Amino acid sequence: MVILGHNYQRREIVEHADFVGDSYQLSKAAADADAEYVVFGGVTFMAESADIITDDAQTVILPSMEASCPMAGMAEALQVDAAWAELTSVTDADIVPITYMNSYADLKAFCAEQGGLVCTSSNAHRAFEWAFERGDKVLFLPDKHLGENTAHRLGMADETAVWDPWDPESDAERAVENDVILWEGYCQVHERFREEHVEEIRADHPDANVVVHPECRREVVEAADVVGSTSTICETVEEADPGETWAIGTEIHLTNHLSRWHPEVEVLPLCGEACMDCNAMRQIDPNYLVWVLEELLEGRERNVIDVTPEEKELAQVALDRMLEV
Ligand code: 13P
Ligand code: SF4
Repeated sequence: MVILGHNYQRREIVEHADFVGDSYQLSKAAADADAEYVVFGGVTFMAESADIITDDAQTVILPSMEASCPMAGMAEALQVDAAWAELTSVTDADIVPITYMNSYADLKAFCAEQGGLVCTSSNAHRAFEWAFERGDKVLFLPDKHLGENTAHRLGMADETAVWDPWDPESDAERAVENDVILWEGYCQVHERFREEHVEEIRADHPDANVVVHPECRREVVEAADVVGSTSTICETVEEADPGETWAIGTEIHLTNHLSRWHPEVEVLPLCGEACMDCNAMRQIDPNYLVWVLEELLEGRERNVIDVTPEEKELAQVALDRMLEV
């Protein structure tokens, strides 16, 4: 058995984990570990990804089934099917769907079926390039901020539109006039950061550097010194010289871990007391971890994450395409 802990897990979980890392690193660690059971300290979409890339003899267990990322839940299969039908009915252009790793297996399968792929926050720009080599437009789901930040990076800022599946007034014809269509999804933990937080940190700590996750708003990313995935944030602090100050714009548990792991660096939460933990990640508490482990000792498998074989096969195609970029 192997225990995996995402960077956003609370200290009591991370301290019991065999591997700590970002969502993609953890799925790879699960596949590489010769373990019959993978107990995933993370959220549902991460455990599903681990189930997709591990072999059939490996069983993935999520200590709490309540640990569901709200952003992944903002792009449900039925809604995406309806939006796809509407958008593709008003244009002859080829639209390539790209989903962020933070999505459920059915959306990854949908993207594979429609000629698209999956990406992480570190390779989204390469996924866009892959898509534009094969089609005319991109539908990016579910995180509009990562999509917008990626479009900026590729010089396509003026070619984006947001598609809001909850708004009956959403105009498909207007949306497809643009090359990048962004799904109206976001992470409430990262949306909390504002440009003023960066300004305040710089005013209060003139030597401070700022690193943020690309799920943050465009203005925050523009004001920061470094932007990157949770592993990039970890590496940035690891590589900092003693005495440097880094303000971190991401989930608060990771900021607290970095402060503990690197006492030689001054680590600050970008928005102070207002920085949030992720309520999905928080569902994994030590009691649930102990419970699934004790049940395994009694020969009972609890909270198994089992993606259907059809979805697994398709989602694997979308993940393999990501590995090509
Ligand atoms: P990573 O893919 O960098 O681990 O981030 C996952 C996440 O949920 C960010 O909010
Ligand atoms: Fe989802 Fe945001 Fe939590 Fe990441 S931090 S798991 S994107 S809600």
